[in-house]
Amino acid sequence: MSTLPALQWRYSLKQFSSDKVPLARVHDLIEAARLAASSYGLQPYQIWVIDDSQVLAQLSEHAYGQSQITQCSHLLVLVNDTQIGDHTVDRYFQRYYQQTGTEVGSADGYAEHIKSALAAQNSPQRQAWAQQQAYLALGALLSEAAMQRIDACPMTGFDQEAFNHVLGLTEKQLNACVICAVGYRDNSIAVPEKVRTPTTEFAHFFA
Ligand SMILES: Cc1cc2nc3c(=O)[nH]c(=O)nc-3n(C[C@H](O)[C@H](O)[C@H](O)COP(=O)(O)O)c2cc1C
Repeated sequence: MSTLPALQWRYSLKQFSSDKVPLARVHDLIEAARLAASSYGLQPYQIWVIDDSQVLAQLSEHAYGQSQITQCSHLLVLVNDTQIGDHTVDRYFQRYYQQTGTEVGSADGYAEHIKSALAAQNSPQRQAWAQQQAYLALGALLSEAAMQRIDACPMTGFDQEAFNHVLGLTEKQLNACVICAVGYRDNSIAVPEKVRTPTTEFAHFFA
């Protein structure tokens, strides 16, 4: 099994048809993001799913009026935790003991190591780290979408603070860091050519 045919098929769709993505498929995209790798497994991010046309219209005003936001089937908003610290690690290890049946406290040393590593960074560095993790989840989501022939447009062309305000994220200690419109293409519209760095410049076999 290769994802390559799906990745060749996909492109960032600008004009969506009016077809809705079935909710079960939206759940598949969420699941792909949930299963993505993250640093220490801490998953300092969430996905918020928006398909309310009024909210989408409001959000589009804070995204340079990009029509993907109002035309898509669902807008997936990847949000990162803004407060990251010991509680982030404790949250993970609570789940770890619960979900693996491992003796509670047996990984205390490792937990302390992660806490010290996080404490060595300042708050903006921790937030940047959380956003990097959210982008990995976005990558998994984009691949799953392509495999299922669901179109997507990842976007950072939006005002994060305004999105946080509209979606009530700030008070939940969350921040919208990247969004992804999903839906279906109109097959009568031409598919744009892919522009990519040639493999000879992109990949280097160090010897
Ligand atoms: C992090 C990120 C942010 C992006 N932001 C926007 C955006 O705000 N608006 C947009 O139309 N496309 C956006 N794109 C899509 C890129 O322009 C697109 O992925 C790139 O040109 C490669 O083309 P392709 O995805 O169609 O293969 C973004 C892509 C990424 C990964």
